[in-house]
Parts: sequence; C-alpha cells; structure tokens
Amino acid sequence: MQATTVDKLAHHLGEIVTIRGWLYNRRSKGKLHFLLIRDGTGIVQGIMSQDDVNQDLFSQCSRLPQESSLIATGKVRQDSRAPGGYELAIQDVEILQLAGEYPLGKKSHGSDFLLKNRHLWLRSKKQHAQLKIRSEVIRLIRQFFDSRDFVLVDAPILTSCVCEGTSSLFEVNYFERRAYLSQSGQLYVEAAAMAFGKAYCFGPTFRAEKSKTRKHLTEFWMVEPEIAYANLDDIMRLAEELVANLVEEVRKKRKEELKILERDTEMLEKVALPFPRLSYAQALQILKDSGVSFEWGEDLGAPHEAIISSQFDRPVLIHRFPTQTKAFYMKKDPRDSHLALCVDMLAPEGYGEIIGGGQREDDLEALEKGMAQQNLNREDFGWYLDLRRYGSVPHAGFGLGLERTVAWLCGTHHVREVIPFPRTLYRMYP
Ligand code: 4AD
Ligand code: MG
Repeated sequence: MQATTVDKLAHHLGEIVTIRGWLYNRRSKGKLHFLLIRDGTGIVQGIMSQDDVNQDLFSQCSRLPQESSLIATGKVRQDSRAPGGYELAIQDVEILQLAGEYPLGKKSHGSDFLLKNRHLWLRSKKQHAQLKIRSEVIRLIRQFFDSRDFVLVDAPILTSCVCEGTSSLFEVNYFERRAYLSQSGQLYVEAAAMAFGKAYCFGPTFRAEKSKTRKHLTEFWMVEPEIAYANLDDIMRLAEELVANLVEEVRKKRKEELKILERDTEMLEKVALPFPRLSYAQALQILKDSGVSFEWGEDLGAPHEAIISSQFDRPVLIHRFPTQTKAFYMKKDPRDSHLALCVDMLAPEGYGEIIGGGQREDDLEALEKGMAQQNLNREDFGWYLDLRRYGSVPHAGFGLGLERTVAWLCGTHHVREVIPFPRTLYRMYP
C-alpha cells in the first residue's frame, strides 16, 4: 500500500494505493457510494461497495459532509467514464475530521460572499485552476529571465522613494520617519543593472489607487527587468518575446486548467510575433477614426485602450507618449522632446495595459530637471542620481503586471480572482 496523489494514479494501475484528501462530492446508488475525493492535485472518484467495507463505515459514508478530511485506500482501475480516466475501488476510508456544513456548498453564491470566503473558495475548481496557472506563469517568468542570464535582484518593499507619482502612495510609520510601500522596484533595479548588466526584480508592489475597476488591485505583483546599454527598441523586443513565450507555454503546459476555465484558446493561438507597434500619434488617429474625442497630451484611459486593442488579434505596443503623461525618469525622444521613449503593451480582448516601460533618462542634469518639474524632493533621490554620476549609460526596462497577464491568459473577468488573497479598495479580509 502506497501513498500517492490523484495526478499520479496512471502510474499505479492495478495497485492498491492511499489518497489523502477531502470529500468533494458524493452520491449513492443501492449498495454503492460514489465518493469524489480531491487532494489538491486533482479529483478522483472512489467507489465503495457495501460488500467490501465494514457496515459502520458504509453507513457513515452515506452521510459524510462535503470537505470532510479522509484517507482512502483502494485499487486503481481504469475507467474512461471517470473524471481523469481512473477510479479507486475503495477498500477502506479513515475519516480524520467530519466537516461542519460547508458554507460554499452546492448553491451558487454572489461574488461578495465568495470573496469573504476566499480561504475556502480556493478549493473550488475554477479558482484552483486560475491559481495553478498563476503559479505556472511565475515559474515561466523566472525561467525566461534566468535562461537569458538576468540576475534576480529583489527591490525593497519599504522605501523612501516615490517612483510612480505621489497620489498612490501607501504611507508607513517607520520608527517616527515616513516610509512608503514600494510602487515599483524600478529605481533599485536600475542600480542593479549598472552592477550586473541585466537584472530583474519580481515581487509585490502597492498602489493606493481608489480605482474600483476589474483591473486594479492595491497590492499586485510585478516583474521588472532592466538592462544596461539597452534602448527602447531592445526592451520592446524583450517584452514581446516574454509575452509570446508565456502564452505558448501556458497553452502547452496548462491545457487541463484552461479547459476547466472554458478559455477560448483560439484567441491565444493567434498570439504570435511580431506584435503590432503603434506610436501614440497613430493610436490617437485610431481613436479619432472611431469617432472618439481625444486631445493630444491626454493619457489613454480604459475605454481608449479597449478601442485600440479591439483592432488587433494580438497584444499591441504603443510607444512614445507625450512626456507630460509619464513619470520623471523617462528619457525624452531626441527627435521630439515632447515625447518620451516609453512603451505600453495592451493585451487583446479588453484586458488593457499589461506592460509599462521605456528608456531611462541617463543624463544627470535632465533627470534633475524632470524631478523638479514633478516636485520631487532631490534629497530622497541622492543615491539614484549617483547612478548618473558614476558611469551612466543608456538603459531601459519595463514592468509586467502579473495579475492582469494571468487574468488575460485565463480569460478571467476580474484580476482579484487570480491572486490568492486580493487586496482592493474595500477588501482586506481574509
Ligand atoms: O505602468 P506602470 O505603473 O509602470 C511602472 O511601475 C514602471 N516603474 C515599471 C518599470 O518600468 N519597471 O506599471 C506596470 C504594470 C502595468 O502595465 C500593469 O500591468 C500593472 O503594472 N499595474 C497594475 N496591476 C494591478 N493593479 C494595479 N493597480 C496596477 N497598476 C499597475
Ligand atoms: Mg503604465
């Protein structure tokens, strides 16, 4: 008798194994109980015949509540009708705990109730599939950068620096001083790029945004590569290679989960290189042609992004926004100083901006000027300005928002479902 997991049953055909899990569902018919058991790797149907087990156990299993924890022993059989193709002919069940009435039982529930019960909701099929895809995407992102010789240099979460504007800062009382939760690791990864050539950070970032949209979290994960001696073109290429790679690998490695989510994979199959590239001016033309009033100098909002991306069947890169819409660290286009050497990537199917990045201002004086224009305190950035004093080079990088990317890959409407415990404007529990 051997402990195994549901995903490995195929290796144990004809053997007697134990599965440690929880009761997902059950039904009975005459002298048989059909127990659906989930163990975190999958769900298997256990068939318990009255003739094969002791009578107390058989009657207990006719009343066994959903989510009761149990260890089932039985013989692995192949059955094409069973979910997963294998079933367990049960010989014994050890019940560890009889669950109380499960709050997420058979009824359907509203999203507020489900989010309040997020700690239990994680067990249900779709949530489970989404978080497995998230885990896969994290693994793929790490592999992508590690295999290209980027060095992982994680940025601090507690910081004194403002990276993405003062309006979305979470302030923390740091031993009588003021600190913030990091909005982006970028400034630190720029330091790392000057030390390692190619570096990336990957971790949680925070924005005190009062936006209650399906694309906003107050705590979200971002991967941020940064490369010394690189320009805007270099990182546009890197960004599209990363995203194409994620789509291809998730399609290959997470077929089962995409099926559970009923994801239309035809849309994902279209995601091939190269991605279309538009300048801000070209994007503006698309908006005008669609009858939307939009002035040069405005930033793209969600409805604008939706119109632009609806014209393409794959992600689209929009580059060279007006400097006034962008952060202080953006390098100006030498051909037109009103434009920043920056890029946003919009996902298809209305998922919006998944990447923001660009070439950084590498000239000390220009950088100081940009900071003054945005009323940033130079003293807080002394170390960052040092990077322009000691061996400044052209460099560029970007940030990819993990949850927006995973939501798109999964076809999930709201980003809050693709992070284990979402933090939004009105939600901190559980
Ligand atoms: O465009 P953003 O603000 O860029 C930066 O933070 C740069 N410093 C990154 C860099 O160049 N290293 O954010 C990058 C991405 C967005 O494209 C989006 O995918 C995601 O982070 N993002 C959010 N995701 C969920 N909720 C929010 N409130 C988000 N804000 C940004
Ligand atoms: Mg952005």
